[in-house]
Amino acid sequence: MRSCIGWRRLLFLTPLVFIVLHLLSVSELHRDASRDDLPNKRNKKFDHLVIGPAAGQGLPNRLQCQGTKALNKTHLPSSNLSYKGDSVAFVTVFTVYNTSLDSHPDGRSVNLIKVGNASYSKTERSMAILNVFINFIQKSMPQSNVIILTDPASDLSIRRNRVTVMPIKGEYSRDKLMLQRIRSYITFLEMKLEEHSKRQEHITNYIFSDSDISVVDDLGQIFYKYPNFHLALTFRNNKDQPLNSGFIAIRGTPDGILRAKNFLQEVLRAYTSKYMTASRMLGDQLALTWVVKSNPSFDGKRFTKPEPFLDEIAGASVLFLPCAKYNWTPPEGAGQFHGMPLDVKVVHFKGSRKRLMLESWNFFNSTSNISDMLCLILKSGRTKYDF
Ligand SMILES: *[C@@H]1O[C@H](CO)[C@@H](O)[C@H](O)[C@H]1NC(C)=O
Ligand SMILES: *[C@@H]1O[C@H](CO)[C@@H](O)[C@H](O)[C@H]1NC(C)=O
Ligand SMILES: *[C@@H]1O[C@H](CO)[C@@H](O)[C@H](O)[C@H]1NC(C)=O
Ligand SMILES: *[C@@H]1O[C@H](CO)[C@@H](O)[C@H](O)[C@H]1NC(C)=O
Ligand SMILES: *[C@@H]1O[C@H](CO)[C@@H](O)[C@H](O)[C@H]1NC(C)=O
Ligand SMILES: *[C@@H]1O[C@H](CO)[C@@H](O)[C@H](O)[C@H]1NC(C)=O
Repeated sequence: MRSCIGWRRLLFLTPLVFIVLHLLSVSELHRDASRDDLPNKRNKKFDHLVIGPAAGQGLPNRLQCQGTKALNKTHLPSSNLSYKGDSVAFVTVFTVYNTSLDSHPDGRSVNLIKVGNASYSKTERSMAILNVFINFIQKSMPQSNVIILTDPASDLSIRRNRVTVMPIKGEYSRDKLMLQRIRSYITFLEMKLEEHSKRQEHITNYIFSDSDISVVDDLGQIFYKYPNFHLALTFRNNKDQPLNSGFIAIRGTPDGILRAKNFLQEVLRAYTSKYMTASRMLGDQLALTWVVKSNPSFDGKRFTKPEPFLDEIAGASVLFLPCAKYNWTPPEGAGQFHGMPLDVKVVHFKGSRKRLMLESWNFFNSTSNISDMLCLILKSGRTKYDF
């Protein structure tokens, strides 16, 4: 019930908002679609949900929506109880920055942003995202754990079931964070290898991810459906940035961990030797792409079709999964007019879509309906938000 007031306001505003949205989408057509990770200061950012048209209506195998009601069932109710496999842990790198900007010397908070009935300061915003990230994982994969790799200097405290904070030494400043993330991943994998070498460990598969994603289906399935990969990456049909670094799945066998670690060390080498001057957001993706494409037998044309495929790269068997299912980003700007696949598993709230991540959790929390929530995301994902 908690979102009632918000919803009424939203319905009331719909005609006005629709026009603004249309103007926005036209102006965005002239924008370079490959720069979807970068904020675009020209456009207004909204402080409330904006519902526009849903892409992909009438296309087969795409989610059909009527308002925010889904006409298709996207996921089978709950998981298959007879399906028991190795456990999965999500691993994310997260640090809190000391934002003295959050409050005046007199203790008054500045720059508060409201979502639903809660207000957030700048620091609280990233904590809210992290919490929603965990909420969705615990909803979609209740048996999985979440491991947060963080700067030992940051006083991150999270008390939730199945969530562990693991400090790893490094240089976590904002402009080095993507570089540090790869280093923290490597350190983490080294620790796991060490544990395996000491005793017979139970196998845990890992999914390294950004924290601005919502997991909406059981991802443990990929480790069974595709039994032969060491690590999995997500790709899209984008010439300059075909790979997204926000989702890397790693098979938790000693062999899988070792090969994934070696692969990431290759990526780290490419990053430090070639892309240190790239934007702080993109260096790791460019390095990832470089490592994949520097394999002489790699066929880049495979990125044009959204079908999974396997290839041998830097000594590892790498599974390539289409972003359309495993790393779906709401269609901001000119790209992705094709709507949302019915079996989408991960939604990624990149850039200025973070408010939508919280709004969609609130919506799901009050409706308990993932399919309807996906309609909400599909219809409001083209908007840039303030959060
Ligand atoms: C979600 O809502 C749709 C209609 O919008 C309905 O068909 C479906 O059964 C609902 N699913 C659940 C799990 O309640
Ligand atoms: C999705 O729902 C629409 C409208 O009810 C229907 O026409 C379409 O066949 C459904 N798609 C699938 C794959 O079930
Ligand atoms: C449930 O899992 C079992 C074992 O993996 C599989 O054989 C069966 O087809 C699954 N059932 C459904 C409905 O997915
Ligand atoms: C945060 O900044 C304040 C004021 O600049 C300083 O007193 C405090 O020690 C800093 N805290 C950390 C953890 O760096
Ligand atoms: C929002 O409102 C609901 C219902 O009034 C209440 O249960 C909930 O605690 C509130 N949430 C926050 C963050 O204040
Ligand atoms: C919604 O949030 C409340 C409070 O966090 C929680 O108790 C409840 O189980 C949530 N509902 C769903 C459907 O997740």
